[in-house]
Amino acid sequence: MDNLKPYVQQHKERFINELIEILKIPSISADSAFSQDVIDTSEAVKTALENAGCDHVEICETPGYPIVYGEKIIDKNLPTVLVYGHYDVQPPDPLNLWNSPPFEPVIKKTEIHPEGAIFARGSCDDKGQMYMHVKALEYMTENNNLPCNVKFMIEGEEEVGSESLAWFVKQNQEKLANDVILISDTGMISNTQPSITTGLRGLSYVEVEVTGPNRDLHSGLYGGAVANPINVLTKMIASLHDEDNHITIPGFYDNVEELSAAERAEMAKAPFSLEDYKNAIDIDAVYGEKGYTTNERNSIRPTLDVNGIWGGYTGEGAKTVIASKAFAKISMRLVPHQDWVEITELFKKHFESIAPKGVRVVVKPHHGGQGYVTPIDNIGYKAAAKAYEDSFGVTPIPQRSGGSIPIVALFEQELKSKTILMGFGLDSDAIHSPNEHFGIFNYLKGIETIPLFYKYFTELSSK
Ligand code: BES
Ligand code: MN
Ligand code: MN
Repeated sequence: MDNLKPYVQQHKERFINELIEILKIPSISADSAFSQDVIDTSEAVKTALENAGCDHVEICETPGYPIVYGEKIIDKNLPTVLVYGHYDVQPPDPLNLWNSPPFEPVIKKTEIHPEGAIFARGSCDDKGQMYMHVKALEYMTENNNLPCNVKFMIEGEEEVGSESLAWFVKQNQEKLANDVILISDTGMISNTQPSITTGLRGLSYVEVEVTGPNRDLHSGLYGGAVANPINVLTKMIASLHDEDNHITIPGFYDNVEELSAAERAEMAKAPFSLEDYKNAIDIDAVYGEKGYTTNERNSIRPTLDVNGIWGGYTGEGAKTVIASKAFAKISMRLVPHQDWVEITELFKKHFESIAPKGVRVVVKPHHGGQGYVTPIDNIGYKAAAKAYEDSFGVTPIPQRSGGSIPIVALFEQELKSKTILMGFGLDSDAIHSPNEHFGIFNYLKGIETIPLFYKYFTELSSK
């Protein structure tokens, strides 16, 4: 693979322009107004995989959005890498906070990305990272050096819970049979210190509704005499953490895996500057569970966060009113051994039990998924580490992430293989936020690193 770097350099303008075309399609899976765009994106991914050299590509229909499946099988006796990614994106709002329209990609230099970054919704999560794999395959097929078999499975519902993918995986075990699953949908520490993600948190997402009186009331005539659903809801939410920021739901921590002092000491070795962390998001202090560091709080500890809250009058000026209803969306990030279905039940039981008389509470579970941790003493991790050593000249650090890709635990359960998370995004790339971007350096480095993973994985498999 001596010509890998020159090949990427020679074709980089085209690689960037092809990605830009895919970023222009607003494949927002959460909003049905964009359903045709989501479907159009699946077609664009299919064409890209065909052009990159897959022998067989198909659009697999599901009860939801289609899954694009592609493969190139060169020899049944060689190992098979299954690449997973997603072509759907998060809604871009609030739109007014974008410096350029989210589906009109532009390249701009930033302090962290002096070589420029592509600004667009999905640039990092996950179209840009998914497309690195397509271009890595192009390199290997064009240069006749694909060392093993490859399968692609690119879905369009990751940002809304991967329901159709779970259905698809369960009934296609043979088609999806593989020796390792490779995903680029996470991040790394920095452009000079790559890391390999070895853990993902689980998730339980719920919506709550508090109803008081049967209609909105005059807050003077009724205020003080009936339960105000917004007052009640905020009080109930506040009670979900104690003064040390522990979560108060009975049983919530029962199965939480506690790390040993040695494991925590190992984690603390990863380069991290609290000052930089605070400056990057403009806060004067961090906040969280007592007894844990910032990196522990956002990776090995479970959390509970309100993601949205609404009710009553929020228009211009003042309106004196007690709303009939108040709502909130709440997510709980979970760690290994916490079962998301069980946690959802515990939340529901507890939240209903703390409702005062005078209101009715409904808890509606949305979606969820189990967490994931992967050992580092397997050939998948070793192959990834060697690939980064070649492309970055630095040994990557294993690191658990706070984010969730719920389908990964299901892959292990149904397909019995390990997942390697080779993410090339940075925390500062603003995924899910306005002005999401992906560094050109990161995009090209990803394309350079992936073929090396194939090479080392194949070599280590034959030993
Ligand atoms: N790619 C992210 C997950 C991620 C990002 C993991 C960075 C680690 C580092 C994925 O698209 C995502 O946003 N997942 C959701 C969960 C999903 C069920 C909506 C999340 O983590 O909120
Ligand atoms: Mn993603
Ligand atoms: Mn996402």
